[in-house]
Amino acid sequence: MSLSPAFLDELRSRTLLSALIGRTTKLQKAGREHRACCPFHNEKTPSFYVNDDKGFYHCFGCSAHGDAIRWLTDQRGLPFMDAVKELAQAAGMELPAMDARAAERAEAAKGLHEACGDAAAWFTEQLHGLAGAEARAVLEKRGIRPETARDFGLGFAPDSRGKLKTALKDYGDPMLVEAGLLISVEGKDPYDRFRGRLMIPIRDQRGRAIAFGGRIIGDGEPKYLNSPETPLFDKGRTLYNLDKAAPAARKANRVLVVEGYMDVIALAQAGFGEAVAPLGTALTEPQLERLWRISDVPILCFDGDSAGQKAAIRAAHRALPMLTPGRSLAFVTLPQGQDPDDLVRAKGPAAFEALLRQTQPLVDRLWAHELAAEPTATPEQKAGLKARFTELANSIADSDVKHEYLADFRRRFDEMFRPQRSAFVPFAPRAPGGGGAGGSGRRNGQPWKLPIGPIRAETKAAQSLGVDSTHIKLILAGLIRHPAEIARHIDVLGLLRPAEPSLNQLFDKIIDLAINDHTLDSARLLTILAASGFDQTVGELFRADQPQCSFTEKDADPERARADLDETIAILVARPEVVAALNEATAAMMTHFTAEAFDRQRSLVNECNALESRLANLVQANEDARAFKSEGS
Ligand code: UTP
Ligand code: MN
Repeated sequence: MSLSPAFLDELRSRTLLSALIGRTTKLQKAGREHRACCPFHNEKTPSFYVNDDKGFYHCFGCSAHGDAIRWLTDQRGLPFMDAVKELAQAAGMELPAMDARAAERAEAAKGLHEACGDAAAWFTEQLHGLAGAEARAVLEKRGIRPETARDFGLGFAPDSRGKLKTALKDYGDPMLVEAGLLISVEGKDPYDRFRGRLMIPIRDQRGRAIAFGGRIIGDGEPKYLNSPETPLFDKGRTLYNLDKAAPAARKANRVLVVEGYMDVIALAQAGFGEAVAPLGTALTEPQLERLWRISDVPILCFDGDSAGQKAAIRAAHRALPMLTPGRSLAFVTLPQGQDPDDLVRAKGPAAFEALLRQTQPLVDRLWAHELAAEPTATPEQKAGLKARFTELANSIADSDVKHEYLADFRRRFDEMFRPQRSAFVPFAPRAPGGGGAGGSGRRNGQPWKLPIGPIRAETKAAQSLGVDSTHIKLILAGLIRHPAEIARHIDVLGLLRPAEPSLNQLFDKIIDLAINDHTLDSARLLTILAASGFDQTVGELFRADQPQCSFTEKDADPERARADLDETIAILVARPEVVAALNEATAAMMTHFTAEAFDRQRSLVNECNALESRLANLVQANEDARAFKSEGS
């Protein structure tokens, strides 16, 4: 137990200072105060005042100043702890068991608390003053309402090295340095730590400012500058917004953990007052303990990017040894590239609430993570997977929970690798392609390496949605060979627009020419394109090292060419939808691992791979035809 500032406050308020001082010094009543000749210096007219309401004495002659504890240490010469003991006894208060050093720290912390509180008030004043215009504009642009800014005590640190230092000069530099408000560099005058930043006070559980996060206005490094560790601020034990979130969480029956200050603030504004954030670090054990005091299953809402997902799995691993029956974690994975702040701003609170309704239990997250981490094709790899799970489960200290995890993992493992299923896991591997995208590997019997490649179940990365340039080039070449086809496909060609500027221009030109002239044939089209400066781009489409199809060959069977072109266009138009569905199914499987999610993802993988092989075959068949011809001639 420690001698908390709260205990000392209580002690002071229970002590009648005039009675204490009056025991040794003769006091006269003077209005609401008492007056005396100062016991700290020699004087004939009284300039020593005692104020019971404030619990302070003050001498206008010698500046002696203090409270009841100070009186006993300075006037009676008692050590701090003895002073506290004496006052506690007189006030009928139990002294918490503690050492003297902790008591002194508690006393010193009082000044630091006041300094931080005053700094927060000063930053807020600056935000509303002339210098704060830019910071106010930032808040407005982020959609933070003035009430929200006020609730969170947001402020602004002007771009100056000495304004805060001057404003708080009464505390003295050493205390401001200790509070983390000034930076002290060897041989230099201490100067303001936070300059030109939007200031977010970090509060302790009692709501007092103990540190700050400062966000840069606009772009720059670091984005957030935080207070260093101080006697008040222990980063690893603090959760941003815990003081407000704890009561809100009890009401909402859940607590949310997000990554950033601004996420917490935006969520509170959107009606989710129960969110806290660690301070730019992974969740620590003490932070987990605090969260579990509020809710049995804190919900971690980390960003969908790899940093966020890493932080989530790190928290999962850290939580394992601490699990007890009923105590766990749950996970919400945000859409890639969005944090909770972005999400509620773009889609509103209902969208966020919907995400919160489909949380992923800790066990599912661990399972999905290990499954995705390594291939599981060979017996050795499967055994490796098993060993990793066993190790994870064995890190759980509580033996009941540990055994449940072991049993659960074993069940999932058996389910996944049951003999009748094993044919599907992993997906039929295809021979890898030759060189880079568009390179030919056909000579040794390998198919074209398609830029998208065969998709394996374990692949976590989102598949590209666009149409790659290898295929777009094939289509362009095909349309140049068969301009009459343009009109037939005009309603879907827009979906195949190339991203590359030179191809895009060519694409527009061809469509334009074909629409305006229904009798356009390939030879005339080529002449016009050459005359319009497209000869180089067109030349590249038909270059010998480009993959070709029946419909790009000059002398192919027209029926065959037309059918192949139809099919290629149909595949390319259909593919983004299948890929999008696959990406979604993969994400869903990662979020909530069920047999159905797995089956759906697997069937989409197969569908995607089927489209890829059909595309590859179209190219391959033409290659074979060419090779046959050249051998024959
Ligand atoms: P993010 O980079 O995700 O910031 O950092 P954000 O919350 O989305 O911020 P905005 O929306 O761009 O303003 C998340 C958290 O990581 C810590 C901060 O606590 C931040 O809230 N962080 C980030 C730092 O401490 N320092 C940094 O330079 C960046
Ligand atoms: Mn953000």
